[in-house]
Amino acid sequence: MAFKERVFSGVQPTGNLHLGNYLGAITKFVALQDQYDCIYCVVDMHAITVWQDPAELMHATREVTAAYLACGIDPTKHIVFNQSQVAGHAELAWICNCVARLGWLNRMTQFKEKVGKDRENVSVGLYDYPALMAADILVYRATHVPVGEDQKQHVELTRDIATKFNNDFGASIAAHGYGDAFFPLPEPLIQGPATRVMSLRDGAKKMSKSDPSDYSRINLTDDADAIAQKVRKAKTDPEPLPSEEKGLETRPEADNLVGIYAALNNTSKATVLGEFGGAQFSTFKSALVDLSVAKLGPIGAEMKKLVKDPVYIDGILADGSERANAIAAETMKAVKDIVGFVRR
Ligand code: TRP
Repeated sequence: MAFKERVFSGVQPTGNLHLGNYLGAITKFVALQDQYDCIYCVVDMHAITVWQDPAELMHATREVTAAYLACGIDPTKHIVFNQSQVAGHAELAWICNCVARLGWLNRMTQFKEKVGKDRENVSVGLYDYPALMAADILVYRATHVPVGEDQKQHVELTRDIATKFNNDFGASIAAHGYGDAFFPLPEPLIQGPATRVMSLRDGAKKMSKSDPSDYSRINLTDDADAIAQKVRKAKTDPEPLPSEEKGLETRPEADNLVGIYAALNNTSKATVLGEFGGAQFSTFKSALVDLSVAKLGPIGAEMKKLVKDPVYIDGILADGSERANAIAAETMKAVKDIVGFVRR
């Protein structure tokens, strides 16, 4: 059976959005709008799997929404909303809980990395995070999911849950006229390695909102001065830039800065090195400052303008939630019939 093609993805409203979120996720979301019907979610229910200050959570939810809009996502042609406004996510998550096996969740590397030795003291929600993520995707019967490499395993788990649901309830699915499979198996759309943005202080670490040093990242709301300072202070090595990509292999900081330049300018690292090969970092960093300010400055300014108007932002989220809910509610009706829940 052919499913309608649909994109779903989400960003957590926790802390600052930075260049890594922009190049790794949001620019991909923007690009997919021409080809697919897209649903972009601010996953506030995922955020509270670790403690969030309520006022900050609200602010961050509006800020991620502002970033979606400022980066060019069109909330009239597509759907932009926050997860907690559509009950289907939580409802389907329960079904996913009952389909997924304990052994499957025990294998999730992100959970293992996040908890470390603190296993007894993390929330049950953090452990169950991937089941909610599966529900996010499946409640829209989405076919394509743009995510970073680190989320690939969660999309694979979603496929496993969808497959098991389709098998376990096969007879009921057919009896209710849904053919031989109710859920499509969603495909992860993985960003290329060039857009894996690393810390400006350590080329071996991912750029992250939880890094204690603000100099490790460029935030989307940084002004031109902050961007310039951070790029100038970015860690490098004493050699000039190589002329070929191979010369970046053992130089993670140089590789990262060249990758950022290439991604911001929509070209390849090879092209960037064609221009800057042999140049000193001082020259290259000046060009990178100019490019970063030119690309991110307008986005940051627009975000700041938008977050000053929470009534407007909340209106976008309310409208998006209504349209998302219309799709999710249809899925939930069908799921209830398939599972055998009596419903109105
Ligand atoms: N877990 C994702 C992340 O941290 C966010 C997310 C939640 C998501 N639900 C999703 C991404 C569904 C894609 C699809 O990046």
